[in-house]
Amino acid sequence: MAGQTTFTMIKPDAFGAGNSGAIIKIIEEAGFKISAAKVTKLSSERAGQFYEVHKERPFYNDLVSYMSSGPIIAMVLKKDNAVEDFRTLIGATNPAEAAEGTIRKLFATSIEANAIHGSDSDDNAQIEAGFFFSRTERF
Ligand code: CMP
Repeated sequence: MAGQTTFTMIKPDAFGAGNSGAIIKIIEEAGFKISAAKVTKLSSERAGQFYEVHKERPFYNDLVSYMSSGPIIAMVLKKDNAVEDFRTLIGATNPAEAAEGTIRKLFATSIEANAIHGSDSDDNAQIEAGFFFSRTERF
C-alpha cells in the first residue's frame, strides 16, 4: 500500500525569487497537509550527503553548489498516495518537459534550478524527512 508521507524542498531558485508562498498554496490546495517545515541553508557538505546517490553523475558538483547557494524550505507532507501524487503535482525534472500547471512548469528555470524536490519512493521519503526533522518535530 502506498504511504502517506513525502518530503519536499523548495529550492534556492524558487525561494530566492519569492515563490515559496505561491508554491505552498498550490501544495495545500492539492490536499497535502504540512507535517513539518523549516527554512534552512544546506552547507555544501550536507547538500553532498543529501544527494549522495548522484555522486557519480556529471552534474553532482554543480548540484551540490547550487543546493547550498541559498536558503531552502524543507517540508514533510501528508496525503494518501503522497509520493506519486506529489511527483505528479511538481512535474518532470526538466521543466521543458513538465506538464502545464505543474510547479516546475510554473516556477523552474532549468533542469538544475528546478524549483522543488519530491521524494521518489516511500523509503526515500522517510530517509529524507529524517535528514531534516526528528520524529518529535513532525505532526
Ligand atoms: P531532484 O529531483 O531534486 O534530484 C536530483 C536533482 O539533480 C534534480 O532534482 C535536479 O535539480 C538535478 N538534476 C537532475 N538531472 C540533472 C541534469 N541532467 N543536469 C543538471 N541537474 C540535474
